[in-house]
Amino acid sequence: MASGRDDRDQTEEVRTAIRVGDPIESGEVCPVEQIPDPCALVIFGASGDLTRRKLIPSLFYLDRKGLLPDNLYIVGAARTEMTDDAFRDLLREGVRKAEAETFDEAAWAAFAKRLFYRPTSYADLAAFRDLGGVLSSLDREFRTGGNRLYYLAVPPSLYTPITTQLGESGLAKAEGGYRRVVIEKPFGRDLRSARELDEHIHQVFSEAQIFRIDHYLGKETVQNILIFRFMNAIFEPIWNRRYVDHVQITAAETLGVENRAGYYEHAGVLRDMFQNHMLQLLALTAMEPPSRFAADAVREEKTKVFRSLRPIPLEHLEEHLVLGQYGPGQIEGQSVRGYREEPGIEPASQTPTFAAMKFHVDNWRWQGVPFYVRSGKRMARKVTEIAIQFKRIPHLMLQAVMDESIAPNVLILRIQPDERIRLAFQTKSPGFKSCLRQVMMDFCYQDAGKGVALDAYERVLLDAMLGDQMLFVREEAVNLTWTLLTPVLEAIENNDRVPPFPNYDAGTAGPSDAHQLLERGDDRWRPL
Ligand code: BG6
Repeated sequence: MASGRDDRDQTEEVRTAIRVGDPIESGEVCPVEQIPDPCALVIFGASGDLTRRKLIPSLFYLDRKGLLPDNLYIVGAARTEMTDDAFRDLLREGVRKAEAETFDEAAWAAFAKRLFYRPTSYADLAAFRDLGGVLSSLDREFRTGGNRLYYLAVPPSLYTPITTQLGESGLAKAEGGYRRVVIEKPFGRDLRSARELDEHIHQVFSEAQIFRIDHYLGKETVQNILIFRFMNAIFEPIWNRRYVDHVQITAAETLGVENRAGYYEHAGVLRDMFQNHMLQLLALTAMEPPSRFAADAVREEKTKVFRSLRPIPLEHLEEHLVLGQYGPGQIEGQSVRGYREEPGIEPASQTPTFAAMKFHVDNWRWQGVPFYVRSGKRMARKVTEIAIQFKRIPHLMLQAVMDESIAPNVLILRIQPDERIRLAFQTKSPGFKSCLRQVMMDFCYQDAGKGVALDAYERVLLDAMLGDQMLFVREEAVNLTWTLLTPVLEAIENNDRVPPFPNYDAGTAGPSDAHQLLERGDDRWRPL
């Protein structure tokens, strides 16, 4: 008799037969949809990549979905000299490329009327005062009531100078409307720099005005973790140390470092993915039920998880952390170069592009349940998922005739690329013999009717305008995650405790040592 080990292979054929996920009756229960109040969105760093690739396309889609207030205008500010029209053309190109043949010229023309540009030198207070003049007159024209959102789409080294200027020029001072600032990651590069940055920003903005982005929190399926866990009665009772053996969280990418050498060489995977996205996913998986689905309650429960994370024992670091850097290899049949050969990367770079880590949450619910977390670039395939592996059955009634152990139940929350929830369980194969087969119950977001409604940046932009901080990271959470990771970063960076790089081929599941981190009995990382 056989039992299933790799659920991917064995389950495909039966998936449709036991597909779940069709909405029952017309059963959709929605809170009232809110349109934000009129406001100005000022994007610093507006000539850059993030604005062109993410922010403007997201705002354009929000507009087309009717989710933006009519009286919203957008001012791009950056050092590059450009007219309003040149700015509009630059952004139009970005959206047109992304949309290809579905690009709607008339809709763009209407949207572009909201777009303005102001060349702004970040070191120049007078330039900020001029910008203030432009904003005041547009505020009157668009009747925004003075509401303003400042978005810092700039390299982190500019967060301090820009917030200083916003403070000194009076632009941070609320005059009738609100003033908010949206800050991209990375928020600091260790505990000390994150605290300094907080201290600085707090001289100008209060915590209620600061929106620290982690775009993973805006992903539809990441938000669904809370709904799935806390709006269903059947999962919560088994979501603990009595039933869960361990948790695996994976964010594997096929992309390499691309054109971000300048940033990535000094960040590496622990700063780029772990301090923020990966630990946020861990917190959503491990947190207690919040009393209300509201920003303060949800963020408080996540913060409690960060407070409960066991410090990584540096004397046994290798039992808790495996690092990797990709060498040359093959991705989807194409040869790709190794990290050290990428443009702008040092030929002897010691920057890790892969990490696997073991965490423990020291509280009643999770005592003894390891959380294995891995993320890497240039891996075999792109997948982000959380797998809850339940304990094995306590007694095998077919013991006398079975020579293999039975694969345990696994619940998979797949975040991307195909958003779904899957549950692996054992069934009897049809037929005379009592053969077991592991099958998958499969709920697919795309099949469930409307598909994914808002992309991550659309969601966070909308929430920042609505003033809802639930999907943004608060100060204490940032500090706690840096408190956990800073000693680890110091240990590897100061003492050069990294393995000889490169140690995995592009297009694979990462370095072989990562497997040893998880090997316990029959347990393995889920296949990539
Ligand atoms: C970013 C990191 O925050 O997230 C990138 O800086 C990474 O290095 C990206 O590629 C992954 O995001 P997503 O949404 O593609 O999983």
